[in-house]
Amino acid sequence: MTENIQAVYQGCFKDLNEIKVSPMSRAYLFSDSIYEVIPFQNRKLICPQEHFRRLSHSASELKIIIDIQKVQEEVSHLFNNSSHEDGYIYYQISRGVDDIRSHIYSPDISNETFGYLTPIKFLSKSLKVGICEDIRWGRCDIKTTSLLGNVMQMNNFNNQNCDEIIMHRNNIITEGGASNIFFVIDKTIYTPKLSKNILPGITRDLLIDLIKENKISFEEGDFLIDDLTKASSIWFTSSTKGIADVTEVIDFNINLDPNNELLKKCKDLYNLKISN
Ligand code: PDD
Repeated sequence: MTENIQAVYQGCFKDLNEIKVSPMSRAYLFSDSIYEVIPFQNRKLICPQEHFRRLSHSASELKIIIDIQKVQEEVSHLFNNSSHEDGYIYYQISRGVDDIRSHIYSPDISNETFGYLTPIKFLSKSLKVGICEDIRWGRCDIKTTSLLGNVMQMNNFNNQNCDEIIMHRNNIITEGGASNIFFVIDKTIYTPKLSKNILPGITRDLLIDLIKENKISFEEGDFLIDDLTKASSIWFTSSTKGIADVTEVIDFNINLDPNNELLKKCKDLYNLKISN
């Protein structure tokens, strides 16, 4: 049992253990739900407005009508009522609870909302990763809880002690199982361009702004798994990982430098930005 995790369900704040949900929730029946993970570090929420904007975008793509003001108030309430230094707030909105299971939802259905705050330590972690096909659906730009493709592929590598995966469609790199990917060849940083095949990561965006502000050579585009053989550094970005570099890619011939200059520079710029 989880002790003392503060949560909110349908607008009521309570302990996570006290929340009961209906099995007729469309989140449960269809994964018909969207979510955000909003991190905080040193008692400061990181890019909350960007997370709310992406949640609104996910909702509008799925035609789920949400009250973003209410979401912001509930997130603030969870945050202001906790004393943890570092952690994140998970917030999920499902389309609602069905009377009877039906793919076609009723126009009268109303949102089901759920959030909780949990402490975590943001440790600078190095990752062992595997490479695999991206088997997900065609709208990975929407942050939905339908994550079975990610779950399947990440768990396929789990018995080899991998922490992340590098996914590709027809050899074109997309992203990690739960993060965006960057890599360095010579003095340039590369990352896959935004498309319906990847999530527009908030950390990705934040880092790209820093890279551009600092006039570091940078390219967004379509890149092949083969391009990674020339990479001297690969890293992932996400709200919970920050910037986490790869130390080993299993079954792949690559020489990664843990002291890569651009990796170090990006980590420094990122840490400075979020501590301000
Ligand atoms: N995952 N790509 C995928 C598939 C993700 O699941 C995530 C984040 C990202 C990075 O996005 P951001 O920088 O906005 O966190 C990219 C979150 C942390 C999760 O599902 O737990």
